[in-house]
Amino acid sequence: MATHPIGIFDSGYGGLTVFKAINERLPQYDYIYLGDNSRAPYGNRSFETVYEYTLQSVKWLFDKGCPLVILACNTASAKALRNIQQEYLPRHAPEKRVLGVIRPTAEIIGNFSKTRNVGVLGTNGTISSRSYEIEINHFFPDVTVFQQACPMWVPIVESGDLHSDGTEYYVKKYLDELQIEARSIDTVLLGCTHYPLLVDTILKFLPPGVKVVTQGDIVAASLEDYLVRHPEIDGVLTTGGESKYFTTDGSNDFDRHASMYRGMAVVSEHVVL
Ligand code: DGL
Repeated sequence: MATHPIGIFDSGYGGLTVFKAINERLPQYDYIYLGDNSRAPYGNRSFETVYEYTLQSVKWLFDKGCPLVILACNTASAKALRNIQQEYLPRHAPEKRVLGVIRPTAEIIGNFSKTRNVGVLGTNGTISSRSYEIEINHFFPDVTVFQQACPMWVPIVESGDLHSDGTEYYVKKYLDELQIEARSIDTVLLGCTHYPLLVDTILKFLPPGVKVVTQGDIVAASLEDYLVRHPEIDGVLTTGGESKYFTTDGSNDFDRHASMYRGMAVVSEHVVL
């Protein structure tokens, strides 16, 4: 029988941190996870390239029967989502929906900060788009956003090297550059879905009392709310509780890393987009 799963897309492993939270909150739905590992990281790529890769992935998920796709990737949300929503969908797939992770995060991040100084860590692509600064100031005009690009963190996560001296060096380097104490930053958003996989090391180098915000639970709650408000989408999703995983790179490596990150056995299939 045909299924109509929710599609979850990321350049690689990072989206698994969002998928885990979504799947725990909404276990009844069917899901397809697609990691474009062979072309990750997206963070340093041009606007055009991120759009092209993301659109290819979204189309593939549509072809697999997904009526709704979540871009569980900040870089793709920053660089490709608007064009997909405003140009591609109305012309080619008006009955489908694609949602990102930046807006739901920006909508609530200001609630965590007392000093009204928030740090945002992300890829070069996300930070240079200034999407967080713009969106957060839309919802919380009194919050000052300090952005910091951390270009080495995604390659580190994709390589699986989470706890080495080199990893600690790069975690400390970008946190130092954010000048958390000097700027009275009391809230730090991990604005890249790969970064929660480095959270132990990040916490080690953060001043005490600084709140670290990750996106999984925020995006899951926002999706639940979206489905309540959009019964026309909710009604076409199938609810077999089944998850399938696909990667554009080798499936053995994907299974090993993804099983660790998901905390359960993951068996993926290799796919050519
Ligand atoms: N997980 C993606 C994000 O949230 C990483 C992007 C990349 O591949 O650099 O931005």
